[in-house]
Amino acid sequence: MHYWRTRLRGLGIYAFTQAPTLGVDTQPTGVGAYVSSAPPHQCIRLASQFCGTLVHDDEGIILLVFKTYSYFERTKDSMEIRKVGVIGCGLMGSGIAQTCAQAGYETIVREVAQDFLDKGMARIQGAWDMMLQKGKINEEQARDYKNHLRGTLDTKDLADCDLVIEAVIENMEEKLRLFPALDNALKPEALILSNTSSLNITQMGAVTKRADKVCGLHFFNPAPVMKLVEIVRTISTSDETVETVRAFAKSLGKTPVVAKDTAGFIVNFLLIPYLLAAIRMYENGLASKEDIDTAMKLGCGYPMGPLTLLDYVGLDTTLWAAEALYEEFKEPLYAPSPLLRRMVNSGMLGRKSGRGFYEY
Ligand code: 3HC
Repeated sequence: MHYWRTRLRGLGIYAFTQAPTLGVDTQPTGVGAYVSSAPPHQCIRLASQFCGTLVHDDEGIILLVFKTYSYFERTKDSMEIRKVGVIGCGLMGSGIAQTCAQAGYETIVREVAQDFLDKGMARIQGAWDMMLQKGKINEEQARDYKNHLRGTLDTKDLADCDLVIEAVIENMEEKLRLFPALDNALKPEALILSNTSSLNITQMGAVTKRADKVCGLHFFNPAPVMKLVEIVRTISTSDETVETVRAFAKSLGKTPVVAKDTAGFIVNFLLIPYLLAAIRMYENGLASKEDIDTAMKLGCGYPMGPLTLLDYVGLDTTLWAAEALYEEFKEPLYAPSPLLRRMVNSGMLGRKSGRGFYEY
């Protein structure tokens, strides 16, 4: 029998139970506690499903659900995460910060300029307004989420974070400037994670004094929705770091996979050549962009066609990922096509710039 420990954020109650099955008492109650031996994803599902109601198992073991909760799967090999920092409030950084705040973590997001921060925070607030409008959350939850999130322009404000995720521009020089600065600003036991999609994380760890506490945590766009995260383990990452990040990823409601620190990890190693092939197909006039997208949507059941997905992910992001893959493997299938380069050079970056393969 596995025992899962659930920590209720804010109230700090810890409890254990063996309850193997769960039933629901539909009588609404006030605020309660929540305990279960169910696996983490089930706990999260149950907690969100029965939020504010009384839940018990067949033997009458009472499980109470708090309105704000946070789940932690802890093993003896992982450390507890309470406060999370996110560096960068762009498309990915804001999505990651939103996800962490929604999971109940005290979250602080740092940007370099007030207008970038305002834009990112507005994007997050827009997502919460949309969820409220759709009835996916109530006003109290929306307020809770907001209370868990704050922005800053000062890295020093992240000093007491247990874990920091960087999601800045995909530029190695930028990351190599950031990592030592974070190393100096954060407490010694804090983990530093990179959301890079293809750059070398071993190198980022090497410019800190805590390479064992550095690894990748790669989210997918849109970060609050996509279920996967890639944990990228470098040759220096410790087992404890991997286990802590695995538990953290699960607490966000994500499914983690572990990849080695090679360009593209798992997803982009496979996805980027597909996207580049779609651009070449369009560039060579083999089919219209609409037909390429329709073919892959309806022929393969993908939620978006490749050219729509390119606009969604950002053509600049795709170019950087392709360049990193080509640099590492020198395979023609990773070589960015001339059209992709020209589009990026002319500012056609996809949705974020209003124009890519399509107009927005
Ligand atoms: N916060 C919370 N919820 C959000 C959200 C956000 N920021 N954005 C969207 N959602 C929710 C919507 O509310 C909606 O919920 P509902 O179904 O309960 O109403 C749900 O997500 C779906 O959104 P939409 O209804 O707006 O649109 P679609 O049904 O068309 O789905 C999509 C949009 C999820 C983006 C889907 O088209 C999709 O999965 N596309 C593929 C995305 C993909 O492949 N991403 C990976 C890219 S690769 C990458 O990121 C790696 C990088 O390194 C290159």
